[in-house]
Amino acid sequence: MKIDIVSVFPEYFEVMNLSLMGKAQAKGLLEIKAHNLRDWTHDVHHSVDDTPVGGGAGMVMKPEVWSECLDELLGFSRPSESSALSGTPVLIFPNPSAPLFTQRDATELSHADHLLFGCGRYEGYDARIPDYYRSQGVDVREYSIGDYVLNGGEVAVSVMLEAITRLMPGFMGNPDSIVEESYTGEGALLEHRQYTKPAVWRGISVPEVLLSGNHGKVDRFRRDEALTRTNEIRPDLIEALDCKALDKADRKTLMALGWEVSATHPRKLD
Ligand code: ADE
Repeated sequence: MKIDIVSVFPEYFEVMNLSLMGKAQAKGLLEIKAHNLRDWTHDVHHSVDDTPVGGGAGMVMKPEVWSECLDELLGFSRPSESSALSGTPVLIFPNPSAPLFTQRDATELSHADHLLFGCGRYEGYDARIPDYYRSQGVDVREYSIGDYVLNGGEVAVSVMLEAITRLMPGFMGNPDSIVEESYTGEGALLEHRQYTKPAVWRGISVPEVLLSGNHGKVDRFRRDEALTRTNEIRPDLIEALDCKALDKADRKTLMALGWEVSATHPRKLD
């Protein structure tokens, strides 16, 4: 997968050379290039922002600089390629006012050949930038990584990139570790808790069933723990479950937690 990132702080992405992301680059699975947006400016100050039209605090990133940069990276500045959009990267802008980025988005994007991320700073970027590239047939996405505001898109891009690339075939040493994770698959639940040895540490024992060697019982214990933790922490995920996909034991556990499981989706009883 080819990944281009545009930022006024491209050095930020040097961390991509570490850990599994670095290994994936060394293996040729990933090719990450961070570009400095200021390389596409023409004024002595290399300015990338201006005051907001209509007034207000802060500065907004200018469309002209972004378009020169994105035209080049999308191949729009080469006439022979401008009409052929096949192979054009998915263009992604982190934005605190956009839909939430989820595991589903990460899974979908892990199959892309080429991603191009544009990191906003200050009060954000001129809204015409994504609109324009959409109008040109580019697959443009805007995502928030959570209900809080960061200083810029760099951290958000790092988060999205890690979530996306670890799902690529060959990225993880053990692909099974992805299958069992929270937020994976249709019936998304928070994952059960994990323990390692020793069995007793500072007087605290691991749950006995995990030492039993009975795989059926271990699976059931973990599933019940996942249902219980999700009920406590993210009841919205329980509400989204498909009742038809629940087995008898799941239903029993959910009923004991105060859910009705006879309709299409579970419903919390008052
Ligand atoms: N830029 C600033 N805050 C952000 C957020 N929460 N998600 C994505 N991009 C952002």
